[in-house]
Amino acid sequence: MTNLENKLNQYVADLMVAYTKLHNVHWYVQGKQFYRMHELFEGYYDKATEDMDAIAERMLQLGLKPVASLKKALEITKIEERTEEFGRDFDLVKIVKTDFEYFLKLTL
Ligand SMILES: [Fe+2]
Repeated sequence: MTNLENKLNQYVADLMVAYTKLHNVHWYVQGKQFYRMHELFEGYYDKATEDMDAIAERMLQLGLKPVASLKKALEITKIEERTEEFGRDFDLVKIVKTDFEYFLKLTL
């Protein structure tokens, strides 16, 4: 596996896990801002899957192998998978913000 393949797979794996988290947050949003936040999180997970798809397909064009299983993605990702149940008191914005800050620091 090349260095480029490793770095791109890091990003693909991170996007796979982030996509799931963003989708989960979209489901569990509650309160007065429900509609606005529900739509906002939907836009974020749509963007995550769009980017993941573009990178994986470009990797294949370059003869590289994108990560193709959730098990492997979870081994590679640096995004922390959520395992706790969502309750009324979860700060959904904080969950998303932590992952977005990670992506901002990620360099290829
Ligand atoms: Fe939805």
